[in-house]
Amino acid sequence: MGRDFFLTFEGIDGCGKSTQAERLKRALTERQFPVTHTFEPGGTALGRKLRTILVHDEINLSLFSEVLLFAADRRQDIDEVIKPALERGDIVIGERFADSSVAYQGVAGNVGEERVERLMDIVTSGLVPDLTLLLDIDPRISLARKTDLDRIEQRGPFLDAVRHAFLDMAARQPERWVVIDAARPADDVFRDVLREVLKRLE
Ligand SMILES: Nc1ncnc2c1ncn2[C@@H]1O[C@H](COP(=O)(O)OP(=O)(O)OP(=O)(O)O)[C@@H](O)[C@H]1O
Ligand SMILES: [Mg+2]
Repeated sequence: MGRDFFLTFEGIDGCGKSTQAERLKRALTERQFPVTHTFEPGGTALGRKLRTILVHDEINLSLFSEVLLFAADRRQDIDEVIKPALERGDIVIGERFADSSVAYQGVAGNVGEERVERLMDIVTSGLVPDLTLLLDIDPRISLARKTDLDRIEQRGPFLDAVRHAFLDMAARQPERWVVIDAARPADDVFRDVLREVLKRLE
């Protein structure tokens, strides 16, 4: 039963994207939906190399180069994974997409929201998720969950700005975004996630 549907999880580091995406994949598969799960940076062979640079390396990247490397990863993921999956009729579950670039580098990183939006429109050829679930949480809570803070996450107040950028984006496009309180236990968060997704698939 093909049902091409592209949904993404967004939210700051450690908000629970991977946890919820895994659960959702399992729940939809149990309900016989064909599912493709992808994440970025790193869903493809190119992505894995870029992830090393973006997340772990000591290379001093300018913010704009960072935007471009994420963009290269995203385009590769679209061509290699997302588009073929949607063409097969799969439900695609993505962890992060163009909205992350807008929030992190565009707004919080001062590259410019509109500039990054325009670039992302080109990079994605206008592919926009059908649904974006924003796992909203105070960075002080989400960072406490993680022990291995990476290059980008080490900037604490930065994540406050990212959080508010996401909330602003969600408020501007309520037909695409759903804000979910991610500070609760994973089971409670998942109940909301599944309800919002099934509502749109039925
Ligand atoms: N609702 C929750 N309550 C408490 N801990 C959680 C919850 N959800 C996830 N965790 C734990 O918090 C940590 C971060 O979760 P997870 O990896 O799912 O977040 P993420 O958004 O994918 O992070 P990243 O941005 O680094 O990819 C993990 O150790 C996970 O087990
Ligand atoms: Mg993750």
